[in-house]
Amino acid sequence: MKESIKQILQNSKLSKLDTKILLGHILGFSKVELVTCNDYQLNEEQYDSYLELYDKCLHGMPIAYILGYKEFYSHKFRVTPDTLIPRPETELLVDMVLQLAKPGDRILDLGTGSGCIAISCKLENKMLDITATDMYAQTLMVAKDNAITLGAEIRFIQSDWFNNIDGIYDIIVSNPPYIVGDDDHLRALAFEPQHALTDFADGMSNIKKIITTAQRHLQGYLLLEHGYDQGRATLGLMQNNGYKNVRTIKDYAGQDRITLGKIG
Ligand SMILES: C[S@@+](CC[C@H](N)C(=O)[O-])C[C@H]1O[C@@H](n2cnc3c(N)ncnc32)[C@H](O)[C@@H]1O
Repeated sequence: MKESIKQILQNSKLSKLDTKILLGHILGFSKVELVTCNDYQLNEEQYDSYLELYDKCLHGMPIAYILGYKEFYSHKFRVTPDTLIPRPETELLVDMVLQLAKPGDRILDLGTGSGCIAISCKLENKMLDITATDMYAQTLMVAKDNAITLGAEIRFIQSDWFNNIDGIYDIIVSNPPYIVGDDDHLRALAFEPQHALTDFADGMSNIKKIITTAQRHLQGYLLLEHGYDQGRATLGLMQNNGYKNVRTIKDYAGQDRITLGKIG
């Protein structure tokens, strides 16, 4: 049975926006074309493809995994089930690094995932010397692939936090897994790699490890993304470990999101 765009939108149990994203992806139509050509009838192949993606979406698979990419800092990043889907609030971390960095600065991005922080920084400022790490080889492969596709020259190192890291950096940045292990939200995020989201403990163990180890590799700023309720604890850890000018920054939704401090 043939269905038109209009009929599909009427019958979908997904939001109009998600349905339009799926249709646009399959048909190659823009948002405007989906409205102006809403009498267009999908052929059998297109309709079968739509049903397959619709079913995945209905079962909770994030749209970014269905499409295979997510936009971040105006660039398209390939994402797979081995990478966290970049979040809009993490763009603030990129803004902060770019504000603090001077030409030629050595930047270390720990737990790079899709590479979104490291690659976005490099694309905005070619003068930065950027190294990105992740503990997982499969994840690092996706980040490397994104760096090649987007034309960003980055050094990649597989490492459990600082284990394989030598040298001194001007800025260390990380968005580590910080969700508490028994947080109910994790169930809604079941399609994403759990080791990218949680430390399977109190949510603070990776933050603590990075703060206490970064000092040996830093002459400048450490910037950490954290949960809305972890600002005070992260600030205290930095202050107690000799960081200066420590402060917590709120995200665009008004929540504590980034804490930074300086060594040297
Ligand atoms: C919250 S995700 C952030 C990914 C990406 N930086 C972003 O902002 O979208 C945390 C990342 O840390 C990585 N990771 C987890 N444990 C790690 C460890 N012990 N050492 C290095 N990376 C780790 C995960 O694989 C994941 O890619």
